[in-house]
Amino acid sequence: MGLTQLLSRSGYAAALLLSTRSSLVLADLTVSTPPLFDYETKQLTDELVAGLTDADQKLFGFDDSAVGSGLERRSGECKVFPGDQEWPSDETWDRFDELVNGALIPTVPLAAPCYNSWGVYNAAKCADISARFTDPYLHEADPTSNMWPIFQGKTCLAFDRPNGTCTLGSYPSYAVNVSSVADVQVALNFARNANLRLVVKNTGHDYLGKSLGAGALSIWTRNLKQIDFIENYQSDSGYEGPAFKVAAGVTVRELYEAAHKHDVTVAGGICESVGFAGGYVAGGGHTPMSGHYGMAADSVEALEVVTADGRFITASNSSNPDLFWALRGGGGGTFGVVTSVIVRAHPKIPVVTSTFTFQSGGNITNEVFYEGVRKFYEMFIPFTDAHTYSYFWIWALGGFGGTLQFQMMPFFAPNHTIESFNELVKPWFDRLTELGIEFTPKTELHDSFYPAYNVAWGNDGVGGLNAIPGNRLFPRERWEDPVKFEETFAAIKAHSMRGKSLGGYHQAPRNRLNVDNAVSSAFRHVINFLIGAAIVEGAENATSTQMKKAVDVLTNDVLGPWRAVSPESEFGGSYLNEANVMEPNWQQSFYGTQYPRLLSLKKKWDPKGVFYGTTAVGSEEWEVQDGDQGTQTQNGRLCKV
Ligand SMILES: Cc1cc2nc3c(=O)[nH]c(=O)nc-3n(C[C@H](O)[C@H](O)[C@H](O)COP(=O)(O)OP(=O)(O)OC[C@H]3O[C@@H](n4cnc5c(N)ncnc54)[C@H](O)[C@@H]3O)c2cc1C
Ligand SMILES: *[C@@H]1O[C@H](CO)[C@@H](O)[C@H](O)[C@H]1NC(C)=O
Ligand SMILES: *[C@@H]1O[C@H](CO)[C@@H](O)[C@H](O)[C@H]1NC(C)=O
Ligand SMILES: *[C@@H]1O[C@H](CO)[C@@H](O)[C@H](O)[C@H]1NC(C)=O
Ligand SMILES: *[C@@H]1O[C@H](CO)[C@@H](O)[C@H](O)[C@H]1NC(C)=O
Ligand SMILES: *[C@@H]1O[C@H](CO)[C@@H](O)[C@H](O)[C@H]1NC(C)=O
Ligand SMILES: *[C@@H]1O[C@H](CO)[C@@H](O)[C@H](O)[C@H]1NC(C)=O
Repeated sequence: MGLTQLLSRSGYAAALLLSTRSSLVLADLTVSTPPLFDYETKQLTDELVAGLTDADQKLFGFDDSAVGSGLERRSGECKVFPGDQEWPSDETWDRFDELVNGALIPTVPLAAPCYNSWGVYNAAKCADISARFTDPYLHEADPTSNMWPIFQGKTCLAFDRPNGTCTLGSYPSYAVNVSSVADVQVALNFARNANLRLVVKNTGHDYLGKSLGAGALSIWTRNLKQIDFIENYQSDSGYEGPAFKVAAGVTVRELYEAAHKHDVTVAGGICESVGFAGGYVAGGGHTPMSGHYGMAADSVEALEVVTADGRFITASNSSNPDLFWALRGGGGGTFGVVTSVIVRAHPKIPVVTSTFTFQSGGNITNEVFYEGVRKFYEMFIPFTDAHTYSYFWIWALGGFGGTLQFQMMPFFAPNHTIESFNELVKPWFDRLTELGIEFTPKTELHDSFYPAYNVAWGNDGVGGLNAIPGNRLFPRERWEDPVKFEETFAAIKAHSMRGKSLGGYHQAPRNRLNVDNAVSSAFRHVINFLIGAAIVEGAENATSTQMKKAVDVLTNDVLGPWRAVSPESEFGGSYLNEANVMEPNWQQSFYGTQYPRLLSLKKKWDPKGVFYGTTAVGSEEWEVQDGDQGTQTQNGRLCKV
């Protein structure tokens, strides 16, 4: 019998659901606390657990010793792995499947139709998967796929190779297609009680492979789709105004559409298919609206979450405030499974966008070209003080000594008019003209965020096998000190002059809403965010030596000089959601000054290490034994160091 049946059979279920809610107290304090989503009212309760057999209770029941007990695992102890004697029997998996109403999905790799070994070979399907492999939505619709096969271990690539090998690699063994909080609770309890590795997957965008895990049970949140508009939300942090309650599986695009419909603005990211309430908010979430509202996590007023003990609780200013703090910036898949968030909606405002390109060539040498870039860089303080943001690329088209191209895509100026925008950029544009650099800005005024977003961005390509990215956050203080500015600019220019491309943003989220959360201190200081990459020789066939070589180039040659001029000691850092998985000193680099508190909260809220993610808070106590892959993949057994 499934829990839904159990729920409807036990007539008192509805009352139970309410009585176990810690947020009930809240309801008295804030009259307008919104109701739970339907799927959040379906909960596992003590009474439901009591109705199970003893054996079932041991496997699927809560663990109230988890929170605050300080129970730790021993060194060398591993999570149970397929093939181990302790691996759950088929009967146990069947029983689990019953309790989640048939939502358990044994993993079949996304590209299985390209191979004979899974018995589902289909040339047409394989061709379709190969053709769409760069489309995030392909991976999103799959229960276990992640968008970056390098971290999967490249064990089942989307190439038509019927006689080739296709194995699970880092794909979790099973996923639960959750459609209720009860499903999340039962899955989490099972993973913890059976000592299985647990993974949370929403869309699979994670750049470091955190939504993958060999031998794991995955909680797949993507089908939790609901968006409620709350016209006048009164939060327990003092905010009063419009807000959205957003389900865990909602994408950035879906939320933007809802905000547009209700004539408000939500701070979200630039890739439409990224999940809003999962890894994005958990990692802080940078946004084109950062010049007005800071990081996306700064607008979050409350979250509903299933914690490591299996309990479903509210995290907000007055309800579990320490968890509330950690969930906004402390990283995904670390402290709990978020089932929904409540996020402030901001007023509708006009946006000016401007796109243009210019490049070296003719009498515009690369030196002259970079004089034009210098003026742009020199203006980051006035640009961010004017609440603007930009996303740009500087392409090294022919490698060393070749043409350099600057691509502004776009300059994003919320609440500006064309006139105020032109005035703001005039010194830069005048300088370009003076240098003889030709460019034709396409500058447009949009009456709100959504149409501006639509001309500027959309979906991004993913799935690459021939490059690995990393990033660096550069603090404003480096722009305020002329000597440090020269040093910083020289390091960036040298990157281009060596024939390497870079992507970048000018942005300064600071702490514009004046909130206290776990967003890295580096984001409170950042004025420039740069993306660099290293090429993986051999692409899909890269050996571990070739992979290691690319990692070393990324870590040392590309990011090293940037790290040197933007050290952690001066609020430099790296964005944890888009980082180099091999970043040294990642604790400080990704989490800034927040790390010590995050680590103590990890020990409080997840003392048994139910949640693990590479480079997640507390992950230094664990290792994925993936052998020699040249980089850290998730294709191996997870063990305590
Ligand atoms: C093409 C592309 C463009 C991007 N653009 C931006 C951008 O503009 N701004 C920006 O800030 N970031 C951006 N990102 C980074 C993005 O924010 C991260 O990849 C983010 O982790 C994705 O979250 P997800 O839930 O969609 O992905 P997933 O890979 O499914 O999950 C990411 C992490 O969050 C955890 N997680 C997911 N759901 C939950 C949940 N409900 N509860 C607890 N943990 C959960 C997972 O376990 C994993 O650790 C971009 C990424 C890509 C690939
Ligand atoms: C795959 O193996 C079968 C049987 O060994 C063989 O007949 C077939 O030609 C092979 N296919 C390819 C594409 O190599
Ligand atoms: C997951 O569950 C949803 C219902 O919540 C259903 O519509 C969907 O088809 C399921 N997906 C898979 C892959 O089983
Ligand atoms: C938010 O929580 C803090 C700390 O508990 C408290 O001091 C403050 O009064 C709360 N804010 C509101 C508006 O209740
Ligand atoms: C946008 O500009 C208007 C007019 O100058 C101002 O009243 C409003 O406060 C601004 N909005 C934001 C979010 O800055
Ligand atoms: C470069 O050539 C263009 C004409 O092609 C001219 O307008 C410009 O002044 C020249 N710039 C310099 C720096 O000589
Ligand atoms: C990788 O190896 C396969 C099989 O040997 C081959 O078909 C393919 O062309 C190779 N790819 C590259 C990029 O070298």
